[in-house]
Amino acid sequence: MATRWFVTGGAGFIGANFVRGLLARRRDSHVTVYDALTYAGHEISLDGCTRTGRFALVRGDVCDADALDAALRDASPDVIVHMAAESHVDRSIHGPAPFLRTNVDGTFRVLEAVRARPGLRVAVVSTDEVYGSLGPTGRFVEGMPLAPSSPYSASKAAADLLTLAYVHTYGLDAVITRCSNNYGPYQMPEKLIPLMILSALRDQPLPVYGDGMNVRDWIFVDDHCAGIELAAERGRAGREYNFGGECEKPNLEVVETILRKLDKPRSLIRFVTDRPGHDRRYAMDIARATEELGFRPSVDFETGMERTLRWYQDNLDWCAAVEDERHRTHMRANYERRLEAGAEPSADRAAPEETR
Ligand SMILES: NC(=O)c1ccc[n+]([C@@H]2O[C@H](COP(=O)([O-])OP(=O)(O)OC[C@H]3O[C@@H](n4cnc5c(N)ncnc54)[C@H](O)[C@@H]3O)[C@@H](O)[C@H]2O)c1
Repeated sequence: MATRWFVTGGAGFIGANFVRGLLARRRDSHVTVYDALTYAGHEISLDGCTRTGRFALVRGDVCDADALDAALRDASPDVIVHMAAESHVDRSIHGPAPFLRTNVDGTFRVLEAVRARPGLRVAVVSTDEVYGSLGPTGRFVEGMPLAPSSPYSASKAAADLLTLAYVHTYGLDAVITRCSNNYGPYQMPEKLIPLMILSALRDQPLPVYGDGMNVRDWIFVDDHCAGIELAAERGRAGREYNFGGECEKPNLEVVETILRKLDKPRSLIRFVTDRPGHDRRYAMDIARATEELGFRPSVDFETGMERTLRWYQDNLDWCAAVEDERHRTHMRANYERRLEAGAEPSADRAAPEETR
């Protein structure tokens, strides 16, 4: 069992949940977070970790090979969980360059650092988005051809392929995890669920892309973190593992659930111009992860949403801290014109048939 963990991107949404969970459950674990602290990475998300005496935060860029090497020398980990990424599809549409830099070049630097350290294992955290979009039926299965459609997903697919090439060519001890949409505490309010929660709490319009019928397979973040831990310790080198919540829902249903639970009116919904190239449906086949790793999602959507809603209501200080000027600039660029132009109350729109 691994005791010394090195988590790139550990100050982000999934990273913070992963690190907190690991430190709390495994008293023999030591965790080093290596994170550039971009707009999406926040030291406050790791508040309290230092008190365990088993935690270190190193501010560093995964693209900086020397800094990464020095941090690895100091930390001397058994396993790297590589999560550092630019992760927001909308931002990748506005400006793909940082996505290619961090997600492709950054992964290359991590793989090189692992190659220089025989015996070191790495779990590369990827996404269901590398598979592209589904029609009304079917699920993503590992081994399917990758067909990413946004700059974000293309950069993640490139990182996956590079990882597989390193396993094949250099015998690297690497696994890849691919997960569906996460939700839970510490998620930046540019992503669907926290954006809708905070907008509803503030009685502001809830911008829903297109007809709201894009389907995602929602997973509570703790379940994803459990999957990553299993894959990092038990996964077979060169193998990809799908994780999902077995919980397909159209975005509109997610938004309506939030409004209902907060006792807010449906009239807050605004349908706005769709995201260009918006994938229609994702769904995960998790049989491999279940059979080989013993993975099962354990938090149902109602429970997960209630925990998430309560967390945001109780942590408005965290929200205020992360909604800084960088966040506000992006939100204005992405939504201001859409809200002015769209501004059509929700009504009872018929959903067009799903298409691929
Ligand atoms: N959020 C999801 O629903 C989801 C689903 C499947 C897979 N993933 C993957 O999981 C990983 C974590 O996602 P997240 O939602 O926590 O993302 P996030 O955007 O919340 O966090 C990303 C973290 O990476 C750090 N980072 C960015 N660029 C860096 C760089 N150059 N060097 C070092 N650190 C850098 C940021 O500071 C931040 O702490 C990503 O690889 C993402 O592709 C996310």
